[in-house]
Amino acid sequence: NIEEDLLPFLPKCEHHIHIEGALTPELLFTLAKKNNITLPTDDKAFTSPATLTERYRHFASLDDFLHYYYIGMSVLITAADFEALATSYFSRAARDTVRHADVFFDPQAHLSRGVDYPTLLAGLSAAQSHAKQTLNLTSELVCCFLRHLPAQASLATFHLPALQASFASGAVRAIGLDSSEAGFPPHLFADLYADARALGLNLTAHAGEEAPPEYIRSALDDLHVSRIDHGRRLPEDPELLARVAAQGTLLTLCPISNVFLRGVGSVSELPVREFLDAGVKFSINSDDPAYFGGNYIGENYAAVQRAFALSVGEWEGVCRAAIEGSWCGEGRKGEMR
Ligand code: ADE
Ligand code: ZN
Repeated sequence: NIEEDLLPFLPKCEHHIHIEGALTPELLFTLAKKNNITLPTDDKAFTSPATLTERYRHFASLDDFLHYYYIGMSVLITAADFEALATSYFSRAARDTVRHADVFFDPQAHLSRGVDYPTLLAGLSAAQSHAKQTLNLTSELVCCFLRHLPAQASLATFHLPALQASFASGAVRAIGLDSSEAGFPPHLFADLYADARALGLNLTAHAGEEAPPEYIRSALDDLHVSRIDHGRRLPEDPELLARVAAQGTLLTLCPISNVFLRGVGSVSELPVREFLDAGVKFSINSDDPAYFGGNYIGENYAAVQRAFALSVGEWEGVCRAAIEGSWCGEGRKGEMR
């Protein structure tokens, strides 16, 4: 039985987890109280962790989710808050046998609230060290930029001395692009990605989550990313599908996220068979697990198995692609192989 006897024990690498999306309703309320943050009073969902959990079961779209996601993260103020958040994610991921995680964070969403970058980075970095020492779980940070804001804002943020220092020290070795997708095509961020590429940073971008395959093509051609986050709509362009397969670009799929945000009606509607048949590399990830029914990476693996009945050999391929596509060093990959 693959679901029970293999998947829970596979060494996993997670490549698509927004750390702010690991903020559980319980921790959200705890931190709101501690930091004297007033949650919206005109939305009954913010009555209790239970009512918020219930509201999270009925997102209408990516943007409906993002509304709650940006309110939720307003409770994160101190370095200790970010450390508690990341530590809760790493502990939970370790239970799903995650060995390495490339973790997204959204600095612009914190800077705009008056939380400075050294504060949030100190908290995240402390949690990373702790996870490495106590859980043998390594991680890298992926600094994401918000595409619903002007491209000029992301460029200015990227060039802040604090961010540049984190790239120079190696504390942050990658950038990404997230938030509302449709209407904000990748090419708008070409200057940002050119500057990140000049620093030797790893590059990824959300594309093809809600928007069509042209966004995936733009991320590849205009931003020169080595990964595509989601890429769910890639098979709508067979020529691009063949190209992604041939060049070995990794898609970071988030099956349960796509169901919660109504991209598909069920996991079985995702093009997992098409990807396997075409030889497209992909990893399976949780995205914002605290907002999507508390379904972490293990549950995403299980959902894919229930929908597509992969063979042991196919799982070995998925597992290997995830290890090889991780942004840990060669030494760490060797330990996971
Ligand atoms: N930010 C957090 N989760 C996201 C998602 N699934 N898509 C785009 N931006 C996000
Ligand atoms: Zn995402």
